Amino acid sequence: MYKIGLVYNEPQKITAAEKKLDPRSYRQPAIIADYIEEAFVTRGHQITRIPASLNLLQDILAADGLDVIFNVCTGINSKQEQANIFALLELVDIPFVGSGLSTQATALNKANASAALAAAGVPISEFQTFFSAEDSLHSNMDFPMFVKPLHEGSALGITVDSLVENDRDLRQQIKYVIKNFKQPALVEGYLPGREFSVAVLGTKNPKVLPITELEVPEEYGTKIQTVDIKAENAIKRICPAEISEELAEDIADTALQAYTALQCSELARIDVRLDKNGKPNIIEINTMPALEPGYAHYPLMAEVGGYSMSDLVETLITEAIEAWEQKKAA
Ligand SMILES: Nc1ncnc2c1ncn2[C@@H]1O[C@H](COP(=O)(O)OP(=O)(O)O)[C@@H](O)[C@H]1O
Ligand SMILES: [Mg+2]
Repeated sequence: MYKIGLVYNEPQKITAAEKKLDPRSYRQPAIIADYIEEAFVTRGHQITRIPASLNLLQDILAADGLDVIFNVCTGINSKQEQANIFALLELVDIPFVGSGLSTQATALNKANASAALAAAGVPISEFQTFFSAEDSLHSNMDFPMFVKPLHEGSALGITVDSLVENDRDLRQQIKYVIKNFKQPALVEGYLPGREFSVAVLGTKNPKVLPITELEVPEEYGTKIQTVDIKAENAIKRICPAEISEELAEDIADTALQAYTALQCSELARIDVRLDKNGKPNIIEINTMPALEPGYAHYPLMAEVGGYSMSDLVETLITEAIEAWEQKKAA
């Protein structure tokens, strides 16, 4: 039996405009906390719920004798900056589930994550950050391209117009992103192939759970997971993906390379798409994947891989404690 600190958000007050932009994810940490607590309780663990606030550090220290911390909070006061929470957790001498500050902060900025992957030789598209729509295009960038906000999730800012075929549309879409999302635009080479979601589990010997293929239903007339299609929960998930053993291995290897390159711990969900030659490329790494059963991709892949929700959370804390003890012993 472990004493587990469960850090989570109470549902946050948000404006109607924010809710429209991000219809679901704002209340996920509160829903997920209930599921996680239930999963731990069936295993006989003792849960201390710690709602995130600016007193988080004191609240964790005041909770008596925690063995491990499980965090599902993505930010405080509507600041969706999950790296801040992990920064606090790193200051406390208690193991926690998930990647540390440096990995979280890198993954939150898609250009920084891509730079780390490129430096490690992990296959990704060419990419360039645009701070203004007038920046000159690097000579290695070729059309078609894909334009997205530099640091968003849940497909925010992703529409059918994200795919651009010419300079005029490219500049227009960069302007759209900068103006509406108040951040630079990331422009990437467009990956035209099939899309997969890959769940990685473990720290010392991470493994890939059964891969999911994500398919946008044909009636939408696009292969892009736009914000609207995602919000409608319309994307078809095929798990395990119906692909050759060779492709499955190639996707798993690529995802594990990315996991290692970003020095992830315990878990991550990795978006992969095939390039024009059918080779898997990394789109992005989610270092705090959603864990809502029945809705999120990660628990689906865990279930197909033989992990119930309680098996999954048990494995996550075991891995976190083991990695922590090894680090201490080193
Ligand atoms: N370089 C790309 N080429 C083709 N499609 C892309 C590319 N980047 C993103 N997409 C599409 O846009 C979706 C959302 O992009 P992603 O970077 O994963 O953003 P989010 O963090 O919002 O999930 C992807 O699931 C994919 O369908
Ligand atoms: Mg994604």
